[in-house]
Amino acid sequence: MATKVFVTEKIPDRGILLLQKQGYEVTMSEKDGPLTREELVAALTGKEYNAVLSLLTNKIDDEVFDAAGKQCKIFANFAVGFDNINLQAARDRSVYITNTPDVLTETVAEHTFGLMVALAHRMSEGDRFMRKGLYKAWGPMLLLGNDVFGKTLGVVGLGRIGARVAHHAVRGFEMKIIYYDVKRNEQFEKDYGAVFMSTVEDLLPKADFVSIHVPLLESTQHLMNDTRLKMMKKTAFLINTARGPIVEEEALYRALREKTIAGAALDVYEKEPKIDPLFFELENVLLTPHIASATIETRQKMSELAANNIIEALAGRIPPNIVMAK
Ligand code: GLV
Repeated sequence: MATKVFVTEKIPDRGILLLQKQGYEVTMSEKDGPLTREELVAALTGKEYNAVLSLLTNKIDDEVFDAAGKQCKIFANFAVGFDNINLQAARDRSVYITNTPDVLTETVAEHTFGLMVALAHRMSEGDRFMRKGLYKAWGPMLLLGNDVFGKTLGVVGLGRIGARVAHHAVRGFEMKIIYYDVKRNEQFEKDYGAVFMSTVEDLLPKADFVSIHVPLLESTQHLMNDTRLKMMKKTAFLINTARGPIVEEEALYRALREKTIAGAALDVYEKEPKIDPLFFELENVLLTPHIASATIETRQKMSELAANNIIEALAGRIPPNIVMAK
């Protein structure tokens, strides 16, 4: 019987070609957009797929694993984050779960930095201003922003992406780095002159820019709540390219409206893809639609990596990017 793989939404083709080269029968969802949980269950039921290439928009829980069946060895997530997957449910059924780390680190760091500079320089406000035909004359007071150069960046979560954002900040913009992480990294401190903060509360009042890079866990949900947002400087900016629910959006909206912080840039949302339309009325917020890793090069590499994880698992080997062993 043919080895069968289900891909839950159209992705860049490099990984698909790799899977097909193995002689696998690859079925890709034809829906233009993410499958709902019910649609995913229906797509898997009785189909006997040996592997599933899933996306962060797929909620993978007991019912989905059961629909996939016992012959399904792996769910290869096309993302570095895997908070969409119930890991315990996977463990209970001895299913491998893999992600796509490293290949997207530079792209997400770049996007984060782009947001930081764009926010401080009021670029999206400037763009809206131009499109409305409001630019009548160069003005010494027109849309005054803030420098990034030499300021203090507070990195919350010093993983692969947080560390690269800090790298660009120090090497490119001579910023000072303070960071919070559950683990101290003394080598990083030496390399970048960074200063460890043992709590987020220590970091927030000292940073001009706060960039979030922790995974979404029970302990990080609403990490940036009303109380902590109030600890930020009035002149400070918040950037979130990690996961939406880490920031309590209602509290952020108040902080932006009342200008208790200077601005925010978001690539991820608490109830993604929904966002309270009240945000659209604020000038001091910059919004992108969860595209921090969305370059052609990186999405092709993610496709390839997810496919390789499937190939390894189906060959009876341990896939390289396991987030949880079976
Ligand atoms: C994107 O958000 C990812 O986790 O890769």
